[in-house]
Amino acid sequence: MPEANASHRCAIIPPMKTEDSQQPSAFELIGGDAKLRELVDRFYDLMDLEPEFAGIRALHPATLDDSRDKLYWFLSGWTGGPSLYTERFGHPRLRARHLPYAIASSERDQWLRCMAWAMQDGGIDETLQERLMQSFYQTADWMRNKEG
Ligand code: HEM
Repeated sequence: MPEANASHRCAIIPPMKTEDSQQPSAFELIGGDAKLRELVDRFYDLMDLEPEFAGIRALHPATLDDSRDKLYWFLSGWTGGPSLYTERFGHPRLRARHLPYAIASSERDQWLRCMAWAMQDGGIDETLQERLMQSFYQTADWMRNKEG
């Protein structure tokens, strides 16, 4: 199933390969644990505050506390840091976990715009922002489950 495997890869491969190189991981380049948590908190603060993200905000629960924790745990492993999400929940099965929410291009683009804004506010290095956005795009696009 080459298609399914390709999709599978999009979700779990961190934006930078580190196993066989001396390159620092994206997790390290972001600034580690505290900076990553800051990024996730800014992402959900913006989602909560900015009218342009009202569409995706409405898909989330009233309180975003669990969403914050889960995205932070997930991104920790995804960027090459500690595997906090899989330690707790096993394989992320991200696409399946998003199936209850109607995600079309508009929702994908809101999510990406919100993340781009949070990275900008976090002062993440611009080259790193671009590389992360490419990976976020692939994952977010793979999450689409509705036409439009
Ligand atoms: C494409 C647009 C996206 C939308 C509209 C969306 C929306 C949502 C919603 C509504 C939830 C449930 C929140 C909760 O239960 O607290 C969720 C969970 C989650 N999302 Fe997304 N999401 C999107 C893309 C992404 C991307 C690109 C990633 C990762 C890079 C991601 C990672 C996660 C994770 C890790 C969870 C928690 C899953 C769990 O264990 O229940 N999402 N998302």
